Amino acid sequence: MYLQKRNRILRQSPAIRSLVAETTLTPNDFIVPLFIDEGKNAETEIASMPNYYRRSLDLTTKEVKALWGLGLKSVLLFIKCKEEQKDNTGKEAWNKNGLMQRSIRAIKDAVPEMLVMTDVALDPYSSFGHDGIVRDGEIMNDETVEALVQMSISHAEAGADFVAPSDMMDGRVCAIRKGLEENNFTKVGIMSYSAKYASCFYGPFRNALDSAPGFGDKKTYQMNYANRIEALKETLMDVEEGADIVMVKPALAYLDIIREVKNTVQVPVSAYNISGEYAMIKAAAKMGWIDEDKAILETLTSIKRAGADLIATYFAKDAVKLLSA
Ligand code: PBG
Repeated sequence: MYLQKRNRILRQSPAIRSLVAETTLTPNDFIVPLFIDEGKNAETEIASMPNYYRRSLDLTTKEVKALWGLGLKSVLLFIKCKEEQKDNTGKEAWNKNGLMQRSIRAIKDAVPEMLVMTDVALDPYSSFGHDGIVRDGEIMNDETVEALVQMSISHAEAGADFVAPSDMMDGRVCAIRKGLEENNFTKVGIMSYSAKYASCFYGPFRNALDSAPGFGDKKTYQMNYANRIEALKETLMDVEEGADIVMVKPALAYLDIIREVKNTVQVPVSAYNISGEYAMIKAAAKMGWIDEDKAILETLTSIKRAGADLIATYFAKDAVKLLSA
């Protein structure tokens, strides 16, 4: 048989396959989400996220040192707020001595070069479990944005390198940028969750922080998963308003959106390989139905191939170990 072109030539050995690989993962790609709780020397495995933990601050700083040692360079902080500190204003979110603020300081103290990014949204602080202030069953946009600005400034004061608004209120990036400028935080970046969809895949995360909405759902602020053009509108507006990095979330059911966003904007694009995506791989692996290590690398590579420059993932540590094996 005479063939002018044999595509299998470039696939015949590991050496040639790696030489022509279009996408490669490195530790520089990953952002590590961390769940932080009050207490000392305490760690709790999250039931729906096997082998992922909520840790007290002392153990968190230890973990951050280990992450830095593995070559991971950024963490994204989430805290679990005590029930008695939750209310409908979210004011614990900008308490100078709140768990988030103490965590930022302790982590920057322990590993100054580690990039510290912080989640900015009211849900862990809200007695209603919503990302915003609630009035008569409605999530109020403008009041919430004011709260998010205070929250962002207090994270910046504590030493955060990036604030990451994950709330999906209108106008928050612009307002946060203005707040940071007015308070002289000219080096603090904004990684905006620009295209964040109302997704069932956030379930395990809400278990981790006990932050499930107390009534209704998040569909009046998070996006409808049926929409694509809306993601571009949201993302372009965030860039215009001053986002340094934009994000698509979730990742796996939204690879098309990641690609479109990547082709549309001139800022780094991140994607969040979220809790439900983690849980699905863990569950199938536990049943013996898929090979966990292979699934991790295939999944993360697909997110990067789709166009993500950065990936927030609970698999960061596993991936780095697998990559260096
Ligand atoms: C809250 C927030 C959520 C996640 C990150 N920030 C949950 C939500 O919007 O309900 C989800 C992360 C994950 O599922 O891994 N603003």
